[in-house]
Amino acid sequence: MAVVVSVASGKGGVGKSVVASNLALLLARRGKQVVLADLDVGGANLHILFGLLHPPLTLSDFLAKRVETLDAVAQPIEAHPGLRLLPGTGDTLATANMPFAKKKRLIRHLKDLPADIIVVDVGAGTSYHALDFFLMGDVHLAVATADPTSVLDLYRFIKLAAIRRVLSAFLARDEIAEVLSDRDFASVEEVLEAAGKTGEAGQAQAEDLLKGFRPCLILNRMSGRSRVNTLQLKNLLQSYVGGDLAMLGEIPEDEAVEQSVRRYLPVVDHAPASPAAAAFNRLADALLLELRGLA
Ligand SMILES: Nc1ncnc2c1ncn2[C@@H]1O[C@H](COP(=O)(O)OP(=O)(O)O)[C@@H](O)[C@H]1O
Ligand SMILES: [Mg+2]
Repeated sequence: MAVVVSVASGKGGVGKSVVASNLALLLARRGKQVVLADLDVGGANLHILFGLLHPPLTLSDFLAKRVETLDAVAQPIEAHPGLRLLPGTGDTLATANMPFAKKKRLIRHLKDLPADIIVVDVGAGTSYHALDFFLMGDVHLAVATADPTSVLDLYRFIKLAAIRRVLSAFLARDEIAEVLSDRDFASVEEVLEAAGKTGEAGQAQAEDLLKGFRPCLILNRMSGRSRVNTLQLKNLLQSYVGGDLAMLGEIPEDEAVEQSVRRYLPVVDHAPASPAAAAFNRLADALLLELRGLA
């Protein structure tokens, strides 16, 4: 089964797709078979970043069962051997109503794709889709900029993802926990308390699930003046969520990135000597180390 790397952010426009596309390309260049999947259901645009303006098939074709397999939708990218793209869907209506069974089917098929690594671009925001696609990852990458609203949105996103991680695990195996699904949990404490009511070991199991949750932070668009108090964010997550946050790396603000987007090329391809491309290469190495740690 392929290893899944999910890429999310609390807020849109922080560079999630730029990060996902450049990392996917670099992993392919390092000899991996990579599929880059665009699961940003509202704002799918990864195909544009690769200059694929009219993809012949998209996820919509799979969701509507016009094609049997995701493998048929995954589009090889001529210039980049080892990399295939699963174009997202512009079909907001169909996907916004995607029932749970359909989402399960999609996730199962994604993991079964013949590839070493699936990089998933998860939509921004805290919809159940975004949370579930993020949680599908074996490695969770969270992108933020130094903008305080971006950091706050990221914190909220990780907190809700942690809550969803616990609830999904309980729902999957415990019928009593079904009653929990109707409740809207705002804090991790409430979830722990509810988990405790499902049985003796409930609370301890929930705590273990939280402890095992360790998203990796990527800071994008950093400049000499940017400051992000990562220690404070880490402490906040430890005290209020019970999970940990790892720092994976930083990408500088670099006009080469904007130029590359306009040229429909990943920046590591368009401007390999740029500061952003160098940072992406370091990030890809750090990610490969994380992936090795999984094995
Ligand atoms: N490191 C960077 N330096 C300069 N501009 C960037 C950088 N990262 C992203 N951008 C700009 O931000 C825009 C939005 O990035 P994108 O990846 O599409 O955001 P998201 O997927 O999070 O909505 C890009 O088109 C690019 O112009
Ligand atoms: Mg995007």
